[in-house]
Amino acid sequence: MIVKQCSPLAGYLELKSGIDSAVMRVLSGGAYILGREVAAFEEEFAAWNGSGFAVGCASGTDALELILRALHLPEKSLVLTSANTAAATAAAVMRAGCRVCFAEVDGRSMNLTPESVREALSRAGGRVKAVIAVHLFGNPAPADELAEVCAGFGVPLIEDCAQATGARLGGRKVGNFGIAGAFSFYPTKNLGAFGDGGLVTVNDPALAEELKLMRQYGWKVRYESSCNGINSRLDELQAAILRVKLPHLDAANLRRIELAGRYYEKLSGCSGIVLPCKADNAEHVYHQFVIQCAGRDEKVACLAESGIATMVHYPVPLHRQKAYISAPRLTSLEITEKVTAEIISLPIYPELPPEAVDYVSETLSKLL
Ligand SMILES: Cc1ncc(COP(=O)(O)O)c(C=O)c1O
Repeated sequence: MIVKQCSPLAGYLELKSGIDSAVMRVLSGGAYILGREVAAFEEEFAAWNGSGFAVGCASGTDALELILRALHLPEKSLVLTSANTAAATAAAVMRAGCRVCFAEVDGRSMNLTPESVREALSRAGGRVKAVIAVHLFGNPAPADELAEVCAGFGVPLIEDCAQATGARLGGRKVGNFGIAGAFSFYPTKNLGAFGDGGLVTVNDPALAEELKLMRQYGWKVRYESSCNGINSRLDELQAAILRVKLPHLDAANLRRIELAGRYYEKLSGCSGIVLPCKADNAEHVYHQFVIQCAGRDEKVACLAESGIATMVHYPVPLHRQKAYISAPRLTSLEITEKVTAEIISLPIYPELPPEAVDYVSETLSKLL
């Protein structure tokens, strides 16, 4: 049996006729950038997410950059995040003119903890001007508690929701706990476009306005820049496609949750692996189903020999990568290093047949 790790194509085929007609509608409509489709998608996404406002942009990386720019932090401010996230989180910080720094994560959830953020902020003595909590793999970080810690230090909390569209904490969707939430519509994401796309959720109307200025050269009125913005626009084609997909996202996330349930059932008796965990008040949307086990590379190779594609998100923590090697480490990063060496992302996507989960689980069990 051949098992793919993810399949944006399967997501397209599932909704093909709706997506095809949305694309044709835009192509023959004559408006391709920041038009009616983007405005409608922003409204629909904000309502679906329970957020006051949604501002579309060109990618999840840009969404983070736009938030940092709109906050007008002093140049070279430190921005704290985890080192086991996508390079995009750190890249956005640097592109916004800030400097990234790192704190430790929890060994099971692999997300930032209130304790490590408190330790890092205390140690930084006021130099950290914002915190980015990544809801890694679709599992909500404890954003309510992190927001409280941040508030105690007078520092805004930004949520990196790129991998967690639709995840909830205490019944509330992510992207509503901090000052703003950054979403990605990269094709493999839970809500994937067929190109790049991103969005920011905010509840403060003034910040929403500032983000809209920032994403298009600081324009409120065309050709009049009131501040030094950038070009980061969501295009009409992607917005129209996302409008077709959004009403199906809850069901698609539910399918991911069911498949994850099947992995738990099949793998729970297996010694030698750590299964993903989530807080009792959290709804994990399993962008990835990430296990931890010793001898990772050998297991990945054996799974590949059995036709099972896996991935490692991410094989080298950011503080060990050349680009960020000099970034301040405000706590120990021992746990980050340990989990990074042992993680495997098993196949998971809404259209994955349940029998494939059984096959992956059986193959893995034999290896262990
Ligand atoms: C945690 C995280 N943050 C940010 C991003 C950036 O999103 P994009 O690829 O849309 O720029 C990604 C996507 O890979 C991500 O996984």
